[in-house]
Amino acid sequence: MAGADTTCVVVLAAGDGKRLKSELPKVLHRAAGRPLLAHVLAALQPLRPAQTIVVVSPRRAEIEDAMRAAGFGTGITYVVQDPPRGTADAVRVALAEVLPEARHIVVLYGDAPTVSTETLADLVEAQEASGAAATMLTTQARGRSGLGRVVRDERGVIERIVEEKDAAPEELEIDEVNPGIYAFDRDALALVVDKVDTENVQGELYLTDVVALLRARGDSVETGPVDAGETLGVNTRAELAEVAAVLRDRIAARHMEAGVAVVDPSSTFIDVTATIEPGATIHPFSFIEGTSSVGAGAEVGPQVRLVDSEVGRGATVSFAVVRGSTIGPEASVGPFASLRPGTRLERGARAGTFVETKNTTIGEDSKANHLAYLGDAQIGRGVNIGAGTITTNWDGERKHATIIEDDAYISSDTMLVAPVKVGRRGATGAGAVVRDDVPDDALAVGVPARIIEGKGDRMKRGEGAPRE
Ligand code: UD1
Ligand code: CA
Repeated sequence: MAGADTTCVVVLAAGDGKRLKSELPKVLHRAAGRPLLAHVLAALQPLRPAQTIVVVSPRRAEIEDAMRAAGFGTGITYVVQDPPRGTADAVRVALAEVLPEARHIVVLYGDAPTVSTETLADLVEAQEASGAAATMLTTQARGRSGLGRVVRDERGVIERIVEEKDAAPEELEIDEVNPGIYAFDRDALALVVDKVDTENVQGELYLTDVVALLRARGDSVETGPVDAGETLGVNTRAELAEVAAVLRDRIAARHMEAGVAVVDPSSTFIDVTATIEPGATIHPFSFIEGTSSVGAGAEVGPQVRLVDSEVGRGATVSFAVVRGSTIGPEASVGPFASLRPGTRLERGARAGTFVETKNTTIGEDSKANHLAYLGDAQIGRGVNIGAGTITTNWDGERKHATIIEDDAYISSDTMLVAPVKVGRRGATGAGAVVRDDVPDDALAVGVPARIIEGKGDRMKRGEGAPRE
């Protein structure tokens, strides 16, 4: 971006967010899979400014950790403002840390996450080109509350900004408002920011007063329009929900543009951090969260929640909750399955109706079609897990592993009392309670199951367990 090497960006994030009535710092509230502040940092990142300063409250460590977790761990200078005496005070605190080479200071608010990179790039370019003391964006937003109004003189030149709480009735009628996206000449800003006073209804140091102070010095302040959709700020829970919906719409639009079939964007919740290959289909009422990924040709939904999980190419997942799991290509999950962290379905594997898994691998083409709990299990290829199979992995003190090797056949209602292993082509009879390892080719029947060498194959041939 032009001017990047002489631009310092300051993001204000020290406010306490009283209006959200929350313990969490306002800028850490999440929308579309990311804290509000991280959305602002994401919009800034491609500009590669010489310096990015975030002004924070004394809860700096919490904010810094959250940004690191969101992928913004480096290249940010945090400065603490304590107490939060207003947006002008926050900028004053930041100015003390600005690099000597910075000539332009972009100021944004950390609670306004819908601004785009393109808009910011245009702003910096306009400020550079005009050489004005400041350039600020304004938008038309009739009926949106809480915003500063842009007051112009009879020639249409910006005179000042009046905060809603301080505005006279006729000023409240002004549709042109301040979204809080500014670029300042560094020296001009430094000269006036200390002159801001607290003579206003809220007794705060308003950054917006800088406009009148610059104009009073005869400095020029340029304005430019920005789409209202890029200026949404979060002061209340209702606004947080509104902003999340706008971000979600954008994310869904981006995926559709790229060739993903999002059947009903209004009931689809895709986090900004998720990836979906073109050619995938996302059916209604689905949530693609965190670092989840969906491969081409996969069908996800209806009613699926994926959290930090991978869905391979051509896989199908419906009516399921999938967390921390990997679903291989052509595999199938659901309806009504719960895959808990550490689940891995290899190519073509199946976890069907009322199947719950945890820390379990289901090998290639192996099937658990219905009604099973598989925990801490390693299941090989070509295995059949009958309805009602349960790995009893917990002995009251510790978790134990179950190993089921290739081509084994586990009949309905088998209890696998871990630690236990079923060898290759081994089988169990219906209702077996298996406490001892089942050797290759053996069949385990009964309660508790007895071992019968060499009869495992009968189950596959459909002859059932031998009678006593
Ligand atoms: C501010 C603007 C208003 C504008 C609106 C756009 C001022 C005085 N008003 O009002 O004209 O229309 O944003 O959304 O600037 N903050 C600090 N330190 C402080 C106070 C605030 O860092 O001492 C941060 C907050 O964390 C927040 C941002 O600055 O991210 C804006 O503060 P907020 O109190 O939300 O201002 P608004 O009332 O929304
Ligand atoms: Ca605000």
